[in-house]
Amino acid sequence: MEPRYDRAARALHWLAGVLLLGQCAFGYWMDGIARNTPERAFFINLHKSTGLLIGLLILLRIFWHLTRPTPRYPITLPRQQQYLALGVHRVLYLLMLAMPVSGYLASNFSKYGVKFFNLVVLPPWGSDDKLIYGAFNQSHKIAAVLLLTLVALHVLAALWHAWLRDGIFSRISLRPF
Ligand code: HEM
Ligand code: HEM
Repeated sequence: MEPRYDRAARALHWLAGVLLLGQCAFGYWMDGIARNTPERAFFINLHKSTGLLIGLLILLRIFWHLTRPTPRYPITLPRQQQYLALGVHRVLYLLMLAMPVSGYLASNFSKYGVKFFNLVVLPPWGSDDKLIYGAFNQSHKIAAVLLLTLVALHVLAALWHAWLRDGIFSRISLRPF
């Protein structure tokens, strides 16, 4: 039997994946809410709050990744494909982290800060600076497009391996054996 990711790594992969895609859908859905309304303020704060929690999960996932070796690939997988997969995974980790970090930094350069779950006020530690806010906000938007594009390619590659039945998909699947 070929080596696989451990149970926690597999669970973290799918949990973080579903939450990140849901959070992206949430972000784009918010675009449709009229600006300067209480409804928009409510949902933006909810998005910020769920985003910060997902950020903690991503930190745990990165810690798990860095403290355990990546399971050896089957020798049937060409070297270039192994390097490509490892490179793509590294960029995916960077983009996963960039999402909550850019959002959090942007929030601290606007007078609104974060109202955690619309209950606890986390006052901003930065100045109310439109230029800095705009730069981080723009990075948040660009990182989302890059993340979704790379995830689409990652999923296509995963489905291709599932179709080939070469054992790559089983490395991360939730099946217990
Ligand atoms: C937001 C969505 C997703 C993200 C950010 C993501 C990210 C990642 C990362 C970073 C790894 C490498 C894990 C490590 O080495 O620590 C990985 C592995 C993997 N993912 Fe995803 N993933 C996502 C969704 C999916 C989906 C939907 C599928 C399948 C349809 C999938 C299939 C796989 C497979 C098969 C592997 C193992 C690849 C290998 O061992 O080289 N992923 N994923
Ligand atoms: C954890 C991961 C996160 C993901 C995947 C995510 C994703 C997104 C997406 C896809 C958008 C829509 C972008 C667009 O309209 O082009 C968005 C908007 C936004 N996000 Fe996030 N987000 C995350 C975390 C956060 C955090 C932690 C904060 C702040 C603390 C935040 C603050 C915002 C704000 C304020 C907007 C609205 C920007 C605007 O319309 O000008 N996000 N997010």
